[in-house]
Amino acid sequence: MVIYFTGTGNSRIVAEKIHGRYFPDDAGKQKLYALDGDRLLHPGRQLLECADNQLVIWVFPVYSWGVPPVVLRFIDKVRFKGAERARHYMVCTCGDDVGRTDDQWRHHLGRRGWTPRGAFSVAMPNTYVCMKGFDVDSPDIEAGKLAALPGRMEEIFSAIDRGFADSDLVRGSWAWWKTNLIYGLFRAFKMSPFPFRADPDRCTSCGLCARSCPMLNIKMKDRHPQWGPACAMCLRCYHYCPVNAISYGKETQGKGQYRAPSDL
Ligand SMILES: Cc1cc2nc3c(=O)[nH]c(=O)nc-3n(C[C@H](O)[C@H](O)[C@H](O)COP(=O)(O)O)c2cc1C
Ligand code: SF4
Ligand code: SF4
Repeated sequence: MVIYFTGTGNSRIVAEKIHGRYFPDDAGKQKLYALDGDRLLHPGRQLLECADNQLVIWVFPVYSWGVPPVVLRFIDKVRFKGAERARHYMVCTCGDDVGRTDDQWRHHLGRRGWTPRGAFSVAMPNTYVCMKGFDVDSPDIEAGKLAALPGRMEEIFSAIDRGFADSDLVRGSWAWWKTNLIYGLFRAFKMSPFPFRADPDRCTSCGLCARSCPMLNIKMKDRHPQWGPACAMCLRCYHYCPVNAISYGKETQGKGQYRAPSDL
């Protein structure tokens, strides 16, 4: 089973590749489990089941050198029959580096009595734009990361096939501090949806932001999007807007947009 969360599609691409490799006969994609909508909002109501020794691969983007809080909440609350006898792996996607994200994932699985095995990172185009100094990648860097993806996936498949149970990821500098200090600060102060606005002069009222939000957090009111409090900070609304009408305070002024290609 592949359980994945994505904002802008990078982690979906990686999850689909893993699903194609390990569950080739699963034509109905029963074993490709996307975390969105009700599954994210009410993780305790979800019931998953897996066979003994089955692979369970958790795929998600790295948020501030850690696991996205909505994914941690899902791990903490989902009812998962057989998970204690499954082989759990983690594959996170990142723009640059992931700190000690794997420690967090291992800790939360351990608390459920599940045994985490290997953890991997995959460099993908960056999506974080809500602070000074952070923007999407240049076209060259973006193309380079996407071109390196098949090779990286082969490395991960070969490690999983030989039962690798360690971590193979790009931690970057100050890894422990970033995950154990900055992550908490980011979570407390930089994940609020309230700075989101749609420019009324640009917004065409197409409703795409509201339809695509994985947390169902955007409602159209008087033909304009309104953000509620339940946000995963995935930035899908910002990046998918066809006319770049959405801003996050002043931080996104002049920043680019990114959407993972659908044909990779
Ligand atoms: C809120 C947020 C925080 C992020 N933090 C990091 C980070 O700490 N390190 C990093 O390398 N990339 C970071 N990124 C970039 C994403 O992890 C990366 O672009 C990822 O591939 C996006 O995946 P997705 O398209 O599945 O959402 C962040 C992105 C967002 C939206
Ligand atoms: S996606 Fe953009 S244009 Fe469409 S409703 Fe949302 S803000 Fe307006
Ligand atoms: S409001 Fe925007 S950033 Fe927040 S969860 Fe929805 S799409 Fe993602």
